[in-house]
Amino acid sequence: MAPVVLAEEAHGGGQGNSDAEFFNILQMQYAHYMLLAMAGAVALFFVWTMFLKLNAHMRRLHGLGNDTQRFFARDNYRMAWLKRNIVDAPLFRSRHNREFQLSRAINMGTLPTRFQTFCLAGLISMNVALCVLHVPFSEGLDTFAKVLRNRTGTLATANLIPLVMLAGRNNPLIPLVGLSFDTWNFFHRWLARIVALEALAHTFSWIASKVNQAGWSAVAETFHESEFILTGLVAAVGFVALVLFGSSALRHAFYETFLHLHIFLALVAFIALSQHLKELPQLVYLTAALIAWGVERFIRFAINAYRNILGKKTTAVVQALPGDAMRITLRLARPWTVRPGQHMYLYIPSVGFWTSHPFSVAWSEPERVLTEEKGLVMTRQDWMSAQKETISLLVRRRTGFTDTLYKKAEKSADGQISVFALAEGPYGGLHNLDSYGTVMLFAGGVGITHHVPFIRHLVQGYADGLVAARRVTLVWTIQSPEHLEWIRPWMTTILQMDRRRDVLRVMLFISRPRNTKEIQSPSATVQMFPGRPNVNTLLDLEIENQIGAMGVMVCGSGGMADDVRLACRQRQAYSNIDLIEESFTW
Ligand SMILES: Cc1cc2nc3c(=O)[nH]c(=O)nc-3n(C[C@H](O)[C@H](O)[C@H](O)COP(=O)(O)OP(=O)(O)OC[C@H]3O[C@@H](n4cnc5c(N)ncnc54)[C@H](O)[C@@H]3O)c2cc1C
Ligand SMILES: *[C@@H]1O[C@H](CO)[C@@H](O)[C@H](O)[C@H]1NC(C)=O
Repeated sequence: MAPVVLAEEAHGGGQGNSDAEFFNILQMQYAHYMLLAMAGAVALFFVWTMFLKLNAHMRRLHGLGNDTQRFFARDNYRMAWLKRNIVDAPLFRSRHNREFQLSRAINMGTLPTRFQTFCLAGLISMNVALCVLHVPFSEGLDTFAKVLRNRTGTLATANLIPLVMLAGRNNPLIPLVGLSFDTWNFFHRWLARIVALEALAHTFSWIASKVNQAGWSAVAETFHESEFILTGLVAAVGFVALVLFGSSALRHAFYETFLHLHIFLALVAFIALSQHLKELPQLVYLTAALIAWGVERFIRFAINAYRNILGKKTTAVVQALPGDAMRITLRLARPWTVRPGQHMYLYIPSVGFWTSHPFSVAWSEPERVLTEEKGLVMTRQDWMSAQKETISLLVRRRTGFTDTLYKKAEKSADGQISVFALAEGPYGGLHNLDSYGTVMLFAGGVGITHHVPFIRHLVQGYADGLVAARRVTLVWTIQSPEHLEWIRPWMTTILQMDRRRDVLRVMLFISRPRNTKEIQSPSATVQMFPGRPNVNTLLDLEIENQIGAMGVMVCGSGGMADDVRLACRQRQAYSNIDLIEESFTW
C-alpha cells in the first residue's frame, strides 16, 4: 500500500523505532481515509443531483403538452419535508443571507443553511476524530505530543488539496455536482480554518515536547538554527494570517486588498511549507494542491486568450444609465452561447488593471455584420469570421472598480466610452427552470439582470412548446421609475415576443416613488405598484392558480432573499415549490 512505502522512505532506512513507524504509517492512512471520505461525500451528492436532474427532465417532458400538470403541483411528503427542514432551511429561524452588520461598512458574514451546517459538522468532527484517534495520551507528554504533532501536521497538509481545489472559479465540481461557487467557497473557508487550527496544534505540540525536553531557551534556539523548524513556523503563521485577513469584514469592504494579500500570503505559506516538507512524504499532498492551483490558473489564462486575444480583440462599450448603473456591451470575436443564469468575469485593464469582476450576462445576441460585397460568394470561413457576438451586462455602481468605470463613462461627451476588455467565461448557469409549470422570479434592483435571460428563454420556450412553463411572473422591486431604463431595450424585445401575453406577467414595485402619478400600469400584464411586494400574498395567489411544480428564483438583497425563502418554506407542505437563490456576493 502506498502509505506504507511512503512512511518507510521517510525513515530513510529507519532507526528501528517501531512505535514511531507505526504512527507514521497510521497518520498517512488517516489522511487518505479523510480524502476518501470527502470524495465519497461528493460522490453521494453527485448521485443526488443526478436524481433531481432526471426527475426534472421527466417533469419537463410530461409538462410539454399538458396544460394542467396536476400531478406535479404537490410534492411527495418526504421530499417536501426534506426541502422545508433541511435543504432550504437556514440554521435558525429565517436568517440566511441577510448579513450581520456592525455598521453599514462592517459585514460580519451570513449564516449557513442546515444542510451546509450538517456537512460542516461532519467535516469538523472527522478532522477532530482523526487528529486524536490512537494518540497515546496515557503515555506521558513526551510521547503523545510527538504523535499529535505529526498527526496534525499531516492532516493539515492533506486538507490543502480540497482547500485549494474549492477556491478556484474553474473548480470541476461546480458543473459536476451542480453546486455553485459560493457553496464551495463556504467549504473552502471552513477547510482553511481547520487547516489553521491543525497547524497551530502542530506548532504547539512541537513546542510542548521541546520545552519538556530542553526548556524554553531551546525553542528560541531551534528557530534560529533549524531551517526545518523555521520554515514550519513561517508556514503556520502564514495559514493563520490567511484566515485572519480573510475575514468577511475585510473581504467585503476591501475586496481587491483582500485578494492581493490573500495570494501573497498563500504564496509565502506554500513556499515555506514546501521547504518544511522537503524530505517528508507529506510533500505529495502539497504538490497535488499546487498542481490543482496551477491548472486552475492555466485554464483561466487559456479561456481569456481564446475569447479575447486569439483573433480579434474584445471591446466593451460602457454606457452610463440613470440611477447609478451602466450597460456594458461586449463585442466578442467569437460566437458564445450563453445559458440563462450564467455569469462572466470582466477585466478592463485601463480601469482595473489585472483585476476581474463577476457579472451576470443579461443579454446576448449574434451580431451579423455581413458585408456582402457584390459578386463575392462567401465561404463558410468568411461567414464565420463575419459573425460576431455581443453580450450585454447591467452593472450597478459600487465603490471600487465599478465606480471608476461609471465616472469615466459619465464624463465622456455622449455618456459612453469604448475600451479594450477581456471577457472570461461562461461560468455558473447551474439552474434550469424548464420543468416548472409555474415560475416566479423575484428581483431586487440590479438583480433583474440575472432573471432577464430566464424570462426570454421561457417565453421563447413557451411559444416553441419546449418548456413546461405556463405561468411566468416577474416581481421586480426598484427604488424609482427611472431604473426601468436599465433593461428597457431588452424588456421591449421580450414584451413583443410571440404569445408573450399568454405566459408572462410583470409586476413592478417602486419602493420610493416621488409621487403617485409616476405609478401607472401600462397594461394588464405589466403592472406597477408603489411600495414593496408582499411576498406571502403574491405566492398565495400563484399557488391558487398553480400549474405543475413551482420554481421560485430570487436575486436581490440578502433580506429579500430571506423573506422569499421563509415564504416558500411555509408553503412547501402543500405546494411543490423549489427555491433557487442567486446572490451577487460571497
Ligand atoms: C456571480 C455574481 C454575479 C454578479 N452579477 C452582477 C451583475 O450582473 N451586475 C452587478 O452590478 N453586479 C453583479 N455582481 C456583483 C459585482 O461583482 C460587484 O458589485 C462588483 O465586483 C463590485 O466591484 P467594485 O470594485 O466596485 O466593488 P466594491 O465597492 O469594492 O465592493 C462591493 C462588493 O462587491 C464585492 N466584490 C468586489 N470585487 C469583487 C470581485 N472581483 N469578485 C467578487 N466580489 C467582489 C465586495 O466583496 C463587496 O461586497 C455579481 C457578483 C457575483 C458574485
Ligand atoms: C514524526 O515525524 C518525523 C518526520 O517524519 C519522524 O522522523 C518521527 O519518527 C515521527 N515521530 C512519531 C512519534 O511519529
